Amino acid sequence: MRLTIEKDPSVVAQRAAAYIIASVNRHGKKSDNPFVLGLPTGSTPLETYRELIKAHKQGQVSFKNVVTFNMDEYVGLPQNHPESYYSFMWSNLFKHVDIPPENVNILNGNANDLEEECRSYEAKIAGYGGIDLFLGGVGNDGHIAFNEPFSSLTSLTRIKTLTCDTLAANSRFFNNDINAVPRSALTVGIGTILAAREVLILATGSSKAQAVKHGVEGAYCQKWTISALQIHPHGMIICDDAAAGELTVNTYRYFKELEGEKR
Ligand code: GLP
Repeated sequence: MRLTIEKDPSVVAQRAAAYIIASVNRHGKKSDNPFVLGLPTGSTPLETYRELIKAHKQGQVSFKNVVTFNMDEYVGLPQNHPESYYSFMWSNLFKHVDIPPENVNILNGNANDLEEECRSYEAKIAGYGGIDLFLGGVGNDGHIAFNEPFSSLTSLTRIKTLTCDTLAANSRFFNNDINAVPRSALTVGIGTILAAREVLILATGSSKAQAVKHGVEGAYCQKWTISALQIHPHGMIICDDAAAGELTVNTYRYFKELEGEKR
């Protein structure tokens, strides 16, 4: 696993955006096939999306040959609801860049047959030859996408019931009304994320410090689903100092020194 610790969320976003841009551009030079990018919602990636939009407007990256698959979507929330992940992605990224709308894939939480929706999502990912880079955030309890604690570490796209912690955390987007937060979501599985060629998880703020600690130093276990990153050959976390706050001093120093050598 590679862990990059930056001083604050702005530098985390710059590093993440630079990594995505370099990956898209490198891929474009050697292949006509689209670059397949997995994407999250949440507050954490917002600044990274702003950096990507800025770079696109400056001509540093094009999304014309990028295909995206979003991690998750609420079940039963109308697509045009301001808090649907569909609305989030179009407002915060897609409408500002040159991605062809047909290249955007977001799970439909209002599909008549939700299980079929999940199966066909997996099939579509496979049809593109898998995901090149999966970008993700992490919940305070260490969940990635909506793979709540105790999710199977080999799971594929499916319906998940959200935990009380996640409902409480996400109620901030629903006027702090926990009852307004959908109780379930469609989400890619841990197996779906691990099948990507690279996985990059972003974590900022002290509320993510336990998740980072368990992801980096803890056991590989279903309680902290971020820990699944430990068995990925190209798993990366970029976090800020606050999110690194629960790491042991030796772990912190080790990764800081390693990164220092790379620059
Ligand atoms: C939700 C999303 C996750 C996201 C997490 C943390 O549960 N399904 O993909 O990583 O929230 O969000 P935030 O970045 O707002 O802390």
